[in-house]
Amino acid sequence: CTDFKVANEPILTYINGSKERKELEAALTTYSDNCVEVPIVIGGKEYRTERVAYQPMPHNHQKKVAKFFYATPELVNLSIQTAVEAQKQWDNVPFEEKFTMWLKAADLMAGVYRQKLNATTMLGQSKTAVQAEIDSAAELIDFMRFNAYFAKEVLKYQPISETPNVFKNFLKYRGLEGFVAAVSPFNFTAIGGNLAYTPALMGNAVLWKPSDTALLSNYIIFQIMNEVGVPPGVVNFVPADGPVFGDAITASPHLAGINFTGSVPTFARLWGQVGSKLSTYKNFPRLVGECGGKNFHFVHPSADVPSVIMATIRSAYEFCGQKCSACSRIYVPRSLWSQVKEGIVENIKKLKIGPVDDFSVFTSAVIDDKAFKRIAGYIDHAKTNLSIIQGGDYDSSVGYYVKPTFVETRNPTDKIMTEEIFGPVLAAYVYPDEEVDKTMRILDSSTSYSLTGAVFAKDEEFLRKAQDVLKYSAGNFYINDRSTGSVVGQQPFGGARLSGTNDKAGGPNYVLKWSSPLTVKETY
Ligand code: ALA
Repeated sequence: CTDFKVANEPILTYINGSKERKELEAALTTYSDNCVEVPIVIGGKEYRTERVAYQPMPHNHQKKVAKFFYATPELVNLSIQTAVEAQKQWDNVPFEEKFTMWLKAADLMAGVYRQKLNATTMLGQSKTAVQAEIDSAAELIDFMRFNAYFAKEVLKYQPISETPNVFKNFLKYRGLEGFVAAVSPFNFTAIGGNLAYTPALMGNAVLWKPSDTALLSNYIIFQIMNEVGVPPGVVNFVPADGPVFGDAITASPHLAGINFTGSVPTFARLWGQVGSKLSTYKNFPRLVGECGGKNFHFVHPSADVPSVIMATIRSAYEFCGQKCSACSRIYVPRSLWSQVKEGIVENIKKLKIGPVDDFSVFTSAVIDDKAFKRIAGYIDHAKTNLSIIQGGDYDSSVGYYVKPTFVETRNPTDKIMTEEIFGPVLAAYVYPDEEVDKTMRILDSSTSYSLTGAVFAKDEEFLRKAQDVLKYSAGNFYINDRSTGSVVGQQPFGGARLSGTNDKAGGPNYVLKWSSPLTVKETY
């Protein structure tokens, strides 16, 4: 197999006057003034249905970035048949050819398509330029390159053949027989690319249902992959109403896997449907899910306060707290509370909020009306029952704007400390310094989520203990750093408990989820 090495894609800075800034501004102008029509694509053929929908710009919801169509149950079924047929040919395409396509796609994403991906992620998903660059450039490109690299390494893992000239043993890495459904979220363009194209890389055929609110950026990924030679039918682009899609895929005997990022209830519903129909499938479908979190920062009395403040501001408020890894609860010892509180408040006051095409804003609007109302509901709860330290305002007249909000609660099991808000709302619980252990146990037991978490301390003994007591409180655990910002290849990402199946996207084991290896013993 052709050998190649990989490295993480460098992040561009977009300083005023830079080449990348000019290119991005031009792309923003193009997509601001055009509502792009995005078809359903099955087996390379475009379809348009009567169920028309639009992807608005969250920072100015009267404007739309994309017009698209919901697939009917018949079209979802057609895409299943198409994928099942395509998989048979695709699985026989040598890995070397697939790797070449994926690496070429990564180069296109890093080059001519970079600002299209960034601009559509900014306008459609309300990311600032920096946040888009981290996602739709760096992370997406890294997923393409690193998954090809991990797949290449996996192919090398072969069983022992100790009897030369008598027989040999080998593993053939096959795709899953049937089709894989990829159901992707709005909050990372890169996740869509990973959910659809890692199974494809491993020899599977895919029905990709992107989020309505990430439609355009996801469609650009689909176009790039077609351009590098992924054959028609291998990945089918199937925007659809969630339950229509879920019902159709789980009703097919050919369902081989679901690669999902979204809410616990949706994943649980799909899992339940699969479970209730298990005897109808040709294979046990593989279910891979990432389903949210209630991520924490735990501050020990020995912590360095300035780094706690900076890490928390970034984790809680970048991209309006809509990263799955965003910190939404912080535990602070009484001895540090006044410093931490003042530092967070002072920094929140400096955060500039506004439209994404203003390069000086720190963050913009939340994704849509549903999210806006959900977050406003938690803020209203805090106004009535808790104490709002900073923020608390929201306004959806032009865009879905929610001010970064900081809340204190005396109750560590209040819903503000236990439920996923997925917005710019951070709740603090102040604990007595002598109750470090007790507070960690409350942290661990007060929610079913276990995605990311961070502890801040200089005390080595505490750091060892925290890794033990909080062992199952997170899938990604950070020491003296924020709970966000995992990098493909460096911090494989995924949560335990109800946060997901913890298959660690961006890590070496993930590609194997999408393979059904065949053991061969060949006797001479
Ligand atoms: N890479 C993303 C983060 O950790 C998921 O924020």
